[in-house]
Amino acid sequence: MKRDSRQDASLREAALRALENAYAPYSNFRVGAALRARSGELITGCNVENSVNGLAMCAETLAVASAVSQGLTEFDEIAIATEDSEPTPPCGACRQVLNEFAPNIKISSYTREGKEATWTLQELLPYAFALNPSRGRV
Ligand code: THU
Repeated sequence: MKRDSRQDASLREAALRALENAYAPYSNFRVGAALRARSGELITGCNVENSVNGLAMCAETLAVASAVSQGLTEFDEIAIATEDSEPTPPCGACRQVLNEFAPNIKISSYTREGKEATWTLQELLPYAFALNPSRGRV
């Protein structure tokens, strides 16, 4: 599907809406994410923290997990929204999660004030780790 500014706006709006559902009482760093599947469907995620340190789940990873659980495994684009003053790139772990399904995905990050930054995953995660999928099969 060809990208146009309306599609960009709908993905950005979905990420900003997901940001409203973020549960981040410990870090106070709320994140929303919206993935565009190859089928055109939008799937969202937000960060979900926990009283137990180390159990925080990132918005981007939850969006990927939610999409995969719906049978969607091909993605063209992800939008990230935060309340920070500058656009936030995805953390290293989320880059690796995105790489599993969409090594060429386009990543856009937005602030509430309308700042935007765009990268490709290739730029953010060069030389990604990947197991040969045939490993361990009989
Ligand atoms: N976080 C995300 O949701 N995505 C990222 O890519 C970076 C970090 C969340 C995890 C935690 O809830 C909070 O932001 C602060 O690290």
